[in-house]
Amino acid sequence: MNFKTIKDFDLKGKRVLLRADLNVPARRGKVMDTNRIDRLKPTIDYLREAGARILLLSHFGRPEGAQNPEMSLAFLVPTLEECWGCSIRFAPDCVGEKAKAISETIGDGEIALLENLRFHKGEEDNAPDFAAQLAILGDVFVNDAFSAAHRAHASTEGLARLLPSAAGLLMEAELLALDKALGNPQSPVAAITGGSKISTKISVLKNLVEKVDYLILGGGMANTFLYAKGGDTGSSLCEKEMSEEAKAIMKHAEARGCKIILPVDCVCVQEIRVNAPAEIAPSGKIPAGQMAIDIGPESIKAISTVLEQCKTLVWNGPMGVFEIKPFDEGTNALARQAAALTKAGKLASIAGGGDTVSALENAGTCDDFTYISTAGGAFLEWLEGRTLPGVAALCAAHKAA
Ligand code: 3PG
Repeated sequence: MNFKTIKDFDLKGKRVLLRADLNVPARRGKVMDTNRIDRLKPTIDYLREAGARILLLSHFGRPEGAQNPEMSLAFLVPTLEECWGCSIRFAPDCVGEKAKAISETIGDGEIALLENLRFHKGEEDNAPDFAAQLAILGDVFVNDAFSAAHRAHASTEGLARLLPSAAGLLMEAELLALDKALGNPQSPVAAITGGSKISTKISVLKNLVEKVDYLILGGGMANTFLYAKGGDTGSSLCEKEMSEEAKAIMKHAEARGCKIILPVDCVCVQEIRVNAPAEIAPSGKIPAGQMAIDIGPESIKAISTVLEQCKTLVWNGPMGVFEIKPFDEGTNALARQAAALTKAGKLASIAGGGDTVSALENAGTCDDFTYISTAGGAFLEWLEGRTLPGVAALCAAHKAA
């Protein structure tokens, strides 16, 4: 991966079209989690200090090409100002006269937020004329939205064809971390993959089997593998119809020398609720009427031993129903083990995906991981081994320059 970063440009007085991902969790006009905003601060600080004129571009929600006041970016201005410690102007459109007026009057080191890109159909269509309307507003395109890099949209892909282009510091950090995880990792490499269904992660599992030494499976998806091996999964969540896929993945893993680690025991309940009475059962021997809701103590021990042997860990998906206590214990124990090994300098730990980050936050371990991605869907597509159009466009722009 070869791309330019903002450090490769003299940005004094330049109008920088900064593609950020401000698609943040919000409720009734209030930002519920500022992580994505906080993580943009280094780029904002760098650009302001360099004297760039920052025109901030983002989508929010899925307005499908129509103006929708409920998805206006205007509500973000006070939060951005507070998180970044500077004042921010707002343009009520991202193209046309209103956007042009702001791009012509913005001063060095100033920031203007332009309205939701997805109010225009051309954004998601990656329409050349829409990309051109954006491009006339700026001199340089900076993409700092790794979490939207799986979208080939005008502001993530098209713009890189039209303007000198660079990665922002967050995009750079994400790509370096991902390279450390699967591109150029230190071996042995383990992947922890959890979540409810294998059907949504088949491509992820197929790719990981090619790349890692240990594929550790938990959550509902492990049940499908246990069932495929002839186990009894009781009334656990289990995609029995995916059993042939699971067998094919296990066969492929064996041929590749990738060891699939399944839970050896699990915490079982009759109904999913807080503090539901639970018992421990061997995996694949779940009593009738019971369902596996978390990995058990023997699994925690076995997986911890595997992690101790590894130098790199990539994590996506919880080990159980971590949202309901105490069934977060398996996920918490492994998260703490990974965090402790990372702190001791023995493991590089990289995690991503919406649920995963919530699970690691719940375990109180986010700060001790080597890197936590801001991306949900983009992280998954990268785990599938797919080329992300937003990243490919930055590399192509570098090659063409
Ligand atoms: C995300 O939140 O994962 C990104 O902002 C992408 O959003 P999208 O799935 O609506 O394209």
